[in-house]
Amino acid sequence: LASIEVDLSQIDVGSAVKVFWRGKPVFIRHRTAKEIEEAEDVDVATLIDPQSDADRVQKPEWLIVVGVCTHLGCIPVGTAEGETRGEFDGWFCPCHGSHYDSSGRIRKGPAPQNLHVPAYEFLTDTTVRIG
Ligand code: FES
Repeated sequence: LASIEVDLSQIDVGSAVKVFWRGKPVFIRHRTAKEIEEAEDVDVATLIDPQSDADRVQKPEWLIVVGVCTHLGCIPVGTAEGETRGEFDGWFCPCHGSHYDSSGRIRKGPAPQNLHVPAYEFLTDTTVRIG
């Protein structure tokens, strides 16, 4: 499928889901106020792949990223409840130890780039089309 529509209404604040788009996992996180603040409060100049949180989200409460580690392509953990989210409250790639933050940006480890942001569009407040 070139694009998929996802109903966000069942994703509680503080939780995340994994959906599949073009054979790739996409992570959708309904961020808490704390997660948004952490993502916005970073000095962008200190980042491995400098990008502001505002450049990565359309609505602060919804983070949507391709769930493929930019090192060698493993799928990071941290989406399901109880999985480690790494040292920066985002995702952790267990293959070689990359830590991503609550904006999906690489903060520690060998991955060279932030988790990619796919093309997406909000169709309503609770429906998003990815792709
Ligand atoms: Fe993720 Fe190597 S593939 S750290």
